[in-house]
Amino acid sequence: MPTTANAKRKILVTSALPYANGAIHLGHLLEYIQTDIWVRFQKSRGHQCHYVCADDAHGTAIMLRAEQEGITSQALIDRVSEEHQADFARFGVAFDNYHSTHSEENRHFSELIYTRLRDRGHIATRDIEQMYDPVKGLFLADRFIKGTCPKCRTPDQYGDNCEACGATYTPAELIDPVSAISGATPEVRSSTHYFFKLPDFAAFLQGWINDDHVQPQIRNKLMEWFESGFNEWDISRDAPYFGFEIPDAPGKYFYVWLDAPIGYLASFKNLCEREGLDFDAYWREDADAEVYHFIGKDIVYFHALFWPAMLHGAGMRTPTAVNCHGFVTVNGAKMSKSRGTFIKAATYAEHLNPEYLRYYFAAKLTAGVDDLDLNLDDFAYRVNADLVGKVVNIASRCAGFVKKLGGGRLSATCTQPQLLQRAIDAGDEIAGHYDDREFGRAMRLIMEIADEANTYIAEAEPWVLAKQEGREQEVLDICSVGINLFRQLMVYLAPVVPAMAEDARAFLNLDGLDWESRHTLLEDHAINKFKPLMTRIERDRIDQMIEASKEDLAVEKQLKETPKGPLADNPIADEIGFDDFAKVDLRIVRIAKAEYVEGADKLLKLTLDLGGETRTVFSGIRSAYAPEALEGHLTVMVANLAPRKMRFGVSEGMVLAAGDDNGIYLLEPHSGAEPGQRVT
Ligand code: 2FM
Ligand code: ZN
Repeated sequence: MPTTANAKRKILVTSALPYANGAIHLGHLLEYIQTDIWVRFQKSRGHQCHYVCADDAHGTAIMLRAEQEGITSQALIDRVSEEHQADFARFGVAFDNYHSTHSEENRHFSELIYTRLRDRGHIATRDIEQMYDPVKGLFLADRFIKGTCPKCRTPDQYGDNCEACGATYTPAELIDPVSAISGATPEVRSSTHYFFKLPDFAAFLQGWINDDHVQPQIRNKLMEWFESGFNEWDISRDAPYFGFEIPDAPGKYFYVWLDAPIGYLASFKNLCEREGLDFDAYWREDADAEVYHFIGKDIVYFHALFWPAMLHGAGMRTPTAVNCHGFVTVNGAKMSKSRGTFIKAATYAEHLNPEYLRYYFAAKLTAGVDDLDLNLDDFAYRVNADLVGKVVNIASRCAGFVKKLGGGRLSATCTQPQLLQRAIDAGDEIAGHYDDREFGRAMRLIMEIADEANTYIAEAEPWVLAKQEGREQEVLDICSVGINLFRQLMVYLAPVVPAMAEDARAFLNLDGLDWESRHTLLEDHAINKFKPLMTRIERDRIDQMIEASKEDLAVEKQLKETPKGPLADNPIADEIGFDDFAKVDLRIVRIAKAEYVEGADKLLKLTLDLGGETRTVFSGIRSAYAPEALEGHLTVMVANLAPRKMRFGVSEGMVLAAGDDNGIYLLEPHSGAEPGQRVT
């Protein structure tokens, strides 16, 4: 990897493409934050670095999800793309381009790579037998088949492994298998599939894996796979499938994992067209530009075997490196929905500053593949101690004196040239750590400079001198050194905390904070008014985020259980006896009061009059009704639902509404009905 600071490098960087059927969560964010920090660092060094990504929009899961929501696949992927991009923007993840695998560029490159591979003899076809859902008219992947485990007889297990006893098997071995989609008994059917002949590339891949393109731990893992031999890779799926039809193969579609990495090319091509960049300078076989993929360790197989083989087979360059990271755990355990530690990006951002998380991840990231634990106590401690207590503190202690004694202008000469030179020199070592993705080491060095700066100021005691007559210049000199050290720190931290760095840049009255700019000291330089750059993490905000994540789970459950779309696709729920129905106490109520709930963008707080008794209910109808439009109206409530404790209070029942993507409609009785009347 070229490391010279001066030579301008051409670098293309990607993060894995998130599936277009789910929300971005903290597990995803580790990767995007890691990549974004690396990209911002390269840009700060003056390199020409492009960061592209896209939504991974194809496949059965997305097709079924859209169907379940009663919308088209296109509508689903459009909506999710917007949500993903909003989440990334909140966390400062600054892609140069965000595209979709369901795009014309991706169709072009998928067809191009496939036909080149085919014409060079690397595609085979053969018939295979698979489970088929005769009701949905769909071949079923293993995860869409359920049945009783053949080993321990636990019912309701997935088609490939048993969650109870851990056994692995084929769906054909399941006892009483059923389609998880329709409940029908699957049939075995045969169809022709297309295969990429991975074994053709065994020698090439062996060389590639051993040529520093992956981390040592990953290389070892790949060599284990290598030794157990490669199979041909099934790259086709039968219609109906949301994806691209394979050229000259009607009814056969590219498997989502075939066109997903090609999405990197598609997104970059889209950027090239927009900005007039030379695509081939990055992707032709002998291109001298660098290409880096950042991924999680679970998808190495696709990126370090299939992908380089496909590119090589199609006469294109292979990645400079595939950089893997581990998984995020929270408080030492896998993220858990019920514990509230499965935290969505949007939920986090409602409660805490995204830059806290960026710093914490940076402080703990290495170039390795170990999992990263977000320990919530340590998180609060580290951010408060380092960013607020050490870094911001320098500026806040010095800015007031500069304003008062220098009229906002720093001293004409720096009185501590050696101290400042040490901080400047450290930039080379810090840069080396950033470049090597050893962000934790970089953060430790940066905090050492902050410690030195704080020690200098504490020992110089400008606040004591300020009370003594005739020592104003000394005080201004000390604080000017402090502000200069703060500036060095912000140059080094800018890739990690870009929003805070932008505020610092404005305060320091500078054009930029790029890496080289640190060599020029700020002397006789006017600075602007200081505003607090970052506040401390309050523990109760973290607790509120955990509670809100538990609520996200409750809302998700509710949505899953609410059938949507036409009845034919959403069969009526299982039959219940009259006795079961009679247990539900439905009452007419008058909406006495309706209010917004601070911090809850989906809820309204309703005060309901049951004809004498009053109840409070939180209802997810905010998107459909303004509070004042509801007051005085009658509706129907479930009056004997167990009270549910929510973050905002206790909800004592539920009002009835019809709802799908087209809107939410509260039920209202005909006129004449009275609050308190039982609905039967
Ligand atoms: O594992 C995933 O979430 C995939 N959507 C990643 C695809 S990365 C690339 F190959 F597109
Ligand atoms: Zn079992």
